[in-house]
Order: sequence, then C-alpha cells, then structure tokens
Amino acid sequence: MSAFAELEQVHEAALADLKTALTTQALDAWEDRYLGRKGEITLQARQVGQMAREDRPAFGRRVNEIKQLLEQAHASRLEVLRHSELTERLEAEAIDVTLPGRPVVRGHLHLTTQTLRELYDIFAKMGFEVYEAPDVELEAYNFDLLNIPQYHPARDMWDTFWVEGGDQQRGNRRLLRTHTSPGQIRAMRERYPEPLRVILPGKCYRYEQITVRSEHQFYQVEGLAVGPRITMTDLIGTMTEFSHLFYGRDRRVRVRSSYFPFTEPSVELDTECILCDGEGCAVCKYTGWLEIAGAGMVHPIVLANGGYDPDVWSGFAFGAGVERPAMQKFGVEDIRLFYGNDLRFLRQF
Ligand code: DAH
Repeated sequence: MSAFAELEQVHEAALADLKTALTTQALDAWEDRYLGRKGEITLQARQVGQMAREDRPAFGRRVNEIKQLLEQAHASRLEVLRHSELTERLEAEAIDVTLPGRPVVRGHLHLTTQTLRELYDIFAKMGFEVYEAPDVELEAYNFDLLNIPQYHPARDMWDTFWVEGGDQQRGNRRLLRTHTSPGQIRAMRERYPEPLRVILPGKCYRYEQITVRSEHQFYQVEGLAVGPRITMTDLIGTMTEFSHLFYGRDRRVRVRSSYFPFTEPSVELDTECILCDGEGCAVCKYTGWLEIAGAGMVHPIVLANGGYDPDVWSGFAFGAGVERPAMQKFGVEDIRLFYGNDLRFLRQF
C-alpha cells in the first residue's frame, strides 16, 4: 500500500474512532493516540524523510491538512461532550429546595448551671453580688487563714488534692480548693473597709471515694455578709428566705449547733423535706429534714485575717451545696449522673 493510501486509512480510522469517544476521558485518550507526541498522525509526518523527493511536498501538505481536520473535529466533539457532562452533573446534583430541613439540635444549660443561676437570682433579691475566686488555691487561703492551722484535726474534714511543683513553702503550697470558703478571705481583703454581701459560687475538689452521694468534684455556693451590726438573726432570716424561694413557701427551717473552724458559733441549717413534708422518707433518710447549709458567725480570727477589726465588724457566712439541693428538688438519686455526660439524663432538665 502506498504511503498516501495508508495516510488516508489512518485519517478514516481516526474519524471513526472519534465517534466512539463518549466521555471527555475517552476523548483525551483519542487525542493521545492520534495527535499526541507518539500519535499515529505524528508518526505519519515523520515518514516524509524516507519518501521519494518528489512525493514529499504533497504528502507533507496532506498530513498537515488531516492534522488540522482532526484537531477541529476533536475541538467540536470536546465542546459537545463537556456540555452534556455538565448537564448530567447538574441533574444528578440538583437540590430539592422544597424538602423539609433537618432539625438543628440545640443544647441547653446543664442542671448544675440552671441551679446555680436560680441561686444567683434568689440571693440577688437579697442584695448579694456574685464574687468569683480561683479553683487552684493557696494552702493559706484554703486552710490557715480560715483558722485551720497545719496540724489541726479539722483539716481531716477536707481530703485534699495537692498541686505539684511551684513554691512548696508551707502556706504557699497549691491545692484544688476543698470548699469555697477561701473566697471569703479574698473578698474581704479586696473590699475592706466596705461592708460586703457576696455569694461565692464555684467548683470544689475532694480526694474522696466517689459514691452515689458524693463526687470528688462538686459545686458550692458560699455566702458572706460583713457589716457593723450583723447578727445570727440576719443569718437565720437570710437562710429562711432562701429556703422559701428555693424549696417553696411554708417550709420551716431548723438550726442545729455544729462546728466549723471559721465560724463561732457554728450551725447547720435544715429545711423540712420537700418530698414527704417532714413525714420521713428515703430522701431525708427518715428524719423529715434536709440539710441546706453549714453556717455561722464569722470567727474573729477570720475577720481579722480579712482585714476587718472584729471589735467593730461582725459577719455571717454559709456554705451550701448545689448538686444536693438539685437532687432533692428533682428526685435524682445518684450524684454521679451530673457529670457522667449521659444525654438521656441531661435532657430531662
Ligand atoms: N466550708 C464548709 C464545707 O465545705 C461549709 C461551710 C460551713 C461554709 C460553715 C461556711 C460556714 O461559710 O460558715 O464543709
């Protein structure tokens, strides 16, 4: 077969093949096969050198012609394929804007936060402002300045998580506060010589066994009022009002004597059980009463450590739990549920 005939055959084969290229990918392969660097048309062009001199111009011209024709054919085919592929994709990816949307899941405040906010509201009504103190405390604030010296047996009331490193000098050692009471010293030192009425909410930590009734992390709300004529009656009145607003009206409050190193005298305050109305049930351990706070008149040593002269000033303080009252109010029987992150529990509140 002559070189010319062979060239025409390649041309025809290329055109026939082009019709079978149904995707842009197949079209790319076709371009490689015929027009690429090692493509069949390119190979044809290279043959020119081996031809009889007189045939060369005509052959060269024809190769170029065919090359151009094939390039045009390729371009228009590409156009068509791109268009149809785009249409196909748009159809496949079409969004039905009339479909109903998926609901956005919204979170809500944790039971502890809800309870804390309720306590803030109640005490705000009685003129208490919120004062925040640090979770990582100095030994001096958590113990010594609250009249709990190092080898005092009362330290056993609070099993402590100590923080490693830093200044290990006595008093400067760091710990996770075991109660919110150290904030009393901070608030007094900052506010002296103003009278003050603050609540100090916060997380407390105790190196303790976790049980159904006690966690090693929990919240407290501390209260502190310091002024020139504050008496035990103010404390009892404040806590009675608190009990009425939090647990409900018509509930009696009872005062029992107790001991805390930072108050003198010290008391514990109970309210009539909200579940059994004082009859006795599992929640109140058949006593008819629920403990609401430890409290007392601020010890003169503590007042003095805060900068207030105990001959001029007096004050009351109290420390109330947060999870326990929430448990009583909502009938939660296991404190571990609060921080177990089980949404089935948390969503109920
Ligand atoms: N800090 C005490 C505790 O964690 C609670 C307490 C008792 C706080 C009496 C007070 C108070 O302010 O006056 O057990």
